[in-house]
Amino acid sequence: MKVDGVPCRTIWLAEDGWAVEIIDQTRLPHAFATVRLETPEDAARAIRDMLVRGAPLIGATAAYGLCLAARADPGDEALDRAAELLGATRPTAVNLRWAIEEMRSHLRNRPHAERVAAAYAKAAEICDDDVATNRAIGEHGRPLIEQAWTKAGRGRAVNVLTHCNAGWLATVDWGTALAPIYLAHDDGIPVHVWVDETRPRNQGAALTAWELGKHGVDHTVIVDNAGGHLMQHGKVDLCITGTDRTTASGDVCNKIGTYLKALAARDTGVPFYVALPHSTIDWTVRDGLAEIPIEERDAAEVTEIAGRAADGTTTTVSLTPESSMAANYAFDVTPARLVTGLITERGVCAASAEGLRALYPERG
Ligand code: MRU
Repeated sequence: MKVDGVPCRTIWLAEDGWAVEIIDQTRLPHAFATVRLETPEDAARAIRDMLVRGAPLIGATAAYGLCLAARADPGDEALDRAAELLGATRPTAVNLRWAIEEMRSHLRNRPHAERVAAAYAKAAEICDDDVATNRAIGEHGRPLIEQAWTKAGRGRAVNVLTHCNAGWLATVDWGTALAPIYLAHDDGIPVHVWVDETRPRNQGAALTAWELGKHGVDHTVIVDNAGGHLMQHGKVDLCITGTDRTTASGDVCNKIGTYLKALAARDTGVPFYVALPHSTIDWTVRDGLAEIPIEERDAAEVTEIAGRAADGTTTTVSLTPESSMAANYAFDVTPARLVTGLITERGVCAASAEGLRALYPERG
């Protein structure tokens, strides 16, 4: 996608050809700043502290983290250590484990002298594959938006509700949930997006709103609790979210609050779609509620909030009584029965074992 007219991905190699550069997403929407990563520790910190976030981008960053590790020491022990460090940064998005395993199996039986070049080539391939995959998700999802627009009579914009940030900032480019929106918008379909602010880290208010605005897509930020009300009043034509891990039976784990939107969508008859690349499917898990580890983050993300003050400086303020406890569950699981369909790079399928198997027969 473009930032002020300049094509941009979320992760790329520095001019020296070995260091890795990322957008520091903790500074958006108020500042567009990039950060240079030189070691696997830098990459791990960027993932843990959420300078990069979003399931596919976490995976891509871990892949480049292993390149940086191989550059320092291409031996098995060093790579194992780096894989462990990177793999422990965030527990829920399965793309992290997927990307690390892709890298490890690509490097495993190679002579040490070849490993650095092979690692960089594989990380670049993972990134390019993510871009092509997300573009394909966009192409398969775009007709769903057009159908909703037609159903609404084509006399007004089609209203799509999304949660968290599953746009290009969450991937290498294009995004998952937002890819169909960008393509529909580019094709002249009038799209308006309801953007859930997505407390506590406000990925919707800060990131989704920023990237939609940069692309010229009409949008409105709402508090997380407003979606149900809007659906009851016919103001949402469809919901599209991303996911951090989808089970082999179609359960969807995504940012906390996704489940409540799916419940409201079911009650009001609003279609609820989830967009995902192949790398987000965990074929080893069938029961999302029982088997997916849910990340619990620092309570300070709930008790405090950061923003820009009137004088332009960034500041953090406290929200809760000092003595109050706070809990910060970062993800929840939406059971497959509440999901209208999964939008993948291979097409749209039912959120079920049969639906996924039909699209990915090799997983049989
Ligand atoms: O905690 P985050 O910001 O990494 O959570 C991101 C999400 O929940 C996204 O919806 C998900 O990763 C899909 S991104 C294409």
